[in-house]
Amino acid sequence: MYFKRNLESMYFPDRYLVTSALPYANGPLHLGHLAGAYLSADAYVRFQRLMGKDIVYVCGSDEYGAAITIRARKDGVTPQQIVDKYHFLIKDTFEKIGISFDIYHRTTAEIHAETSQEFFRNLYNKGEFEEIESEQYYDEEANMFLADRYISGTCPNCGFEEAYGDQCEQCGSSLSSTELKNPKSTITGSTPVLRSTKHWYLPLDKNEDWLRGWLKNGELDGEPHHDPKEWKNHVLGQCMSWLDGGLQPRSMTRDLDWGVDVPQEIEGAKGKKLYVWMDAPIGYISATKQWAKDHNKDWKDYWQNPKSALIHFIGKDNIVFHCVTFPAILKLHGDFNLPVNVPANQFMNLEGKKLSTSKGWAVWVHEYLDDLPGKEDVLRYTLFKNMPEQRDSEFTWKGWQEANNSELVNNLGNFVNRVLVLTNKYYDGKVPDFDPDIDFSGSEGVDMPMWHDSELLALFDQIDAYSNSIRSYDFRGALRTVMDISSAGNSILQQNEPWKVVKEDPELVKVVMNVCLQYVTALSIILEPFVPFSSKKLRQLLNLEELHGDGELLELLGNLAEGELPLRTGHTIGKAEHLFSRIDDDIVEAQVEKLRKRSELNNEEAKQDEEISFPPFLEEIQFEDFSKLDLRIGEIIEAKKVKKADKLLEIKLKVGPEERTVVSGIAKHFIPEEITGQKVVYLANLAPKKLRGVVSQGMILMAEGPDGNLSFVAPPGNMEAGSKVS
Ligand code: MF3
Ligand code: ZN
Repeated sequence: MYFKRNLESMYFPDRYLVTSALPYANGPLHLGHLAGAYLSADAYVRFQRLMGKDIVYVCGSDEYGAAITIRARKDGVTPQQIVDKYHFLIKDTFEKIGISFDIYHRTTAEIHAETSQEFFRNLYNKGEFEEIESEQYYDEEANMFLADRYISGTCPNCGFEEAYGDQCEQCGSSLSSTELKNPKSTITGSTPVLRSTKHWYLPLDKNEDWLRGWLKNGELDGEPHHDPKEWKNHVLGQCMSWLDGGLQPRSMTRDLDWGVDVPQEIEGAKGKKLYVWMDAPIGYISATKQWAKDHNKDWKDYWQNPKSALIHFIGKDNIVFHCVTFPAILKLHGDFNLPVNVPANQFMNLEGKKLSTSKGWAVWVHEYLDDLPGKEDVLRYTLFKNMPEQRDSEFTWKGWQEANNSELVNNLGNFVNRVLVLTNKYYDGKVPDFDPDIDFSGSEGVDMPMWHDSELLALFDQIDAYSNSIRSYDFRGALRTVMDISSAGNSILQQNEPWKVVKEDPELVKVVMNVCLQYVTALSIILEPFVPFSSKKLRQLLNLEELHGDGELLELLGNLAEGELPLRTGHTIGKAEHLFSRIDDDIVEAQVEKLRKRSELNNEEAKQDEEISFPPFLEEIQFEDFSKLDLRIGEIIEAKKVKKADKLLEIKLKVGPEERTVVSGIAKHFIPEEITGQKVVYLANLAPKKLRGVVSQGMILMAEGPDGNLSFVAPPGNMEAGSKVS
C-alpha cells in the first residue's frame, strides 16, 4: 500500500509551526496548565514528527503584564526577580514532564522587544492605529492608571463580579476597563477616578468583515484558507458571538513601567509600553527567530511561507486573543500566515471544584514530580484520558490511580510483559520466524499465515484511525485507540493461550508470538506522543533504537501496508521488565490530604492577611489623656468641595448653639449633597488650622476599614447636636 505515503503529503501539510500559550512567569505550573495548552500540543507535535513532518514547536514565558507586576508587589520584590524565578522553574518543569518544545523562550529577551516593536512600527507607519485621548481609570493612592488585571468590576456582558479590565474570565469576552461596572483597583481596593491619557488603538471594528469570512467560511482574501469544519464548536461559537456583538477598537498600549517600550521615536511614546496581549503572541515569532538562529534555519519558512500550517494550542480563556486580535495584527502587518486552527481546550476541574491558585486548590506539577518520581507518564496518561477537549472535565487522584492500575498496569503493561517474557522463554529472546506454507488443517481449519496478515492489516487500520484522531485534535479518541490495540493484543494471547499449546503446537505459537511482537513494536511508536517515557523504556526492552521523531510512524504504516514486518524475525529483544507498577491507596490518600491541607492553610493565610491590614493597637494612655478630648455630636448642615483641592471638603457643622467649619480630606469618598443632615462625632477642642485658605476648627471622627473604605462614626439620628460624647 505504497499510496498511503503519497496520501500523507497530498492531503496534509508538510511543514508546521505549532505554539502553546506562553504561560505567565508569575507562579509554578499546575495540572490545569498542562491540560489546557501543553499536553495536546506536545502529542500533536510528537505525532507529526513521527510522521516525518518538518515541524517547529515554540513556547516561552510571558514576562510582562499586570500578572507579573501584581505578583512582584505582593512578594515585595522586583518584576525582574519574579520572572527570573518562575521562568526557570517553569522551563524545568516542562522539561521533566516531557513537553518537547524546540525552544522555550522568554519575552524579556532583546530579540522579542525588537520583534514586537517592529510590528508596532509597521502598523503605526501604515496608519493602522487610531490615536485616541480618553478618560481612563486612575488610582490616586497608587498613583497609576488602572487597566487589565489592575482593575476589576462587574462584567457588562454576563454580570460576573470579578471581571478584569481587559477580559472577563467567566464569559471570555474581551473588555476595556471603562466598560466595567463598579470598578475597583485591585491594588488598593479604592474606587478609581477618571483621568485623561493618550493611546494607540487597533480598530478591530474595521476588521470585522474579513475576520468573519475567515472564521466562518475559512476564506482569506477570496481564497480558501482552512476548513472551518475542522475547528472545535466551542471555539467557533465564542468567536461568532463576539463578532455578532460587534468588535470595539482595543488599545495596544499602556501607561506602565514594566513592558516593551513603544518605539521611542514615535511622538508621545515616552512612558508608554505595549499592551501585554500585543507583545506576548508576537513572542511566538521571536521564539522562532531565536530557534532559527540557533539552528541555522530561516524563521520565515515557518511564518511567511503559506505552505506552512500555523496552529495555536491554548486554553479557552485565550480564544479572543488568538482568533481575533493576533490574527488582525498579523494580517495588518502583512506577509504572515494566519492560524489554520486554534484547538482550544476547556477547563479541567480538580476533585469536584474549580481549580484556584489563590485558594490553594491546585496540584503543582513540580511538586508532583518531586513526590512521585517515575510517574510522569501516569500523570500524562490521566490528563489525556480526561482532556477537556469539548467541555470542562475533572482530575481526581482516585481516577489517576484507577487509570494506572486498571489501564496502564492491567491492560498495557500486562500485554507487553507477557509478550516479552514468553519470547525470552520460548525463543531465547529471538523474534520467531514462521512457515508461510504451514498446514494448519489440524487447528480447526485456520489458515495461520493469512491470519497473520489480517491481524497486521487490522493493526494498520487502527493506527490509521489513531492518526486521523490526532490530526483532528481528538486526543482522547486516539489514546483510546492505543489502548484498544493493546486490548486486541491481550485477546490474541488469551484466545490462543500459547502457554498451554506451546508443546503440542509450536508452529502455531510462533505465528501468535510473532504477531504479538509486531503489536508491541507498533505500541512502542504510537505510545510516544502520549507517554514518551514509557515508549522510550519499551524501545529499550525491545532492544530497538530510540525514537528520534523522524518519520518512524510513517515507516511503520508503510511496513504494515506492504506486508513487511516492523520487527524483523531473528531480532533479539532484551529482558522483560515491568513498564508500570501499581499505585496503592495510601499514595492517593496522601495526595488528597495534601490538597486539603494546602487549601486550609491558604484560607488561614488569607484571614491573617486581612488581620494585618488593620493598624496595630497603640500604647496605653491614662484617663486624663482621654478626658482632655471634648467630643460632641455634630450635624452637617452644609458641605462643599474646596477649590483646587480634589481631596478636601469644607463642612459646616451645627454643634449645639454654635456653628463650626471643618476641612476634611474625604472628598473622594462622599458626595457633598448626600452627607448634609448626617450626625457625626466631632472633636471640638482641637487647635484650629488653615487648610487651602480655609480655617478648619476641630475634626470629624471617621472609621477606616481594612479595604480603605471610610465611614462616619455615626450616632443615631435623634441624638441632639451639641451632646457630649465621653
Ligand atoms: N500568559 C497568557 C495566559 O496565561 C497567555 C499568553 S499566550 C500569548 O493567559 F499568545 F500571548 F503568548
Ligand atoms: Zn462576562
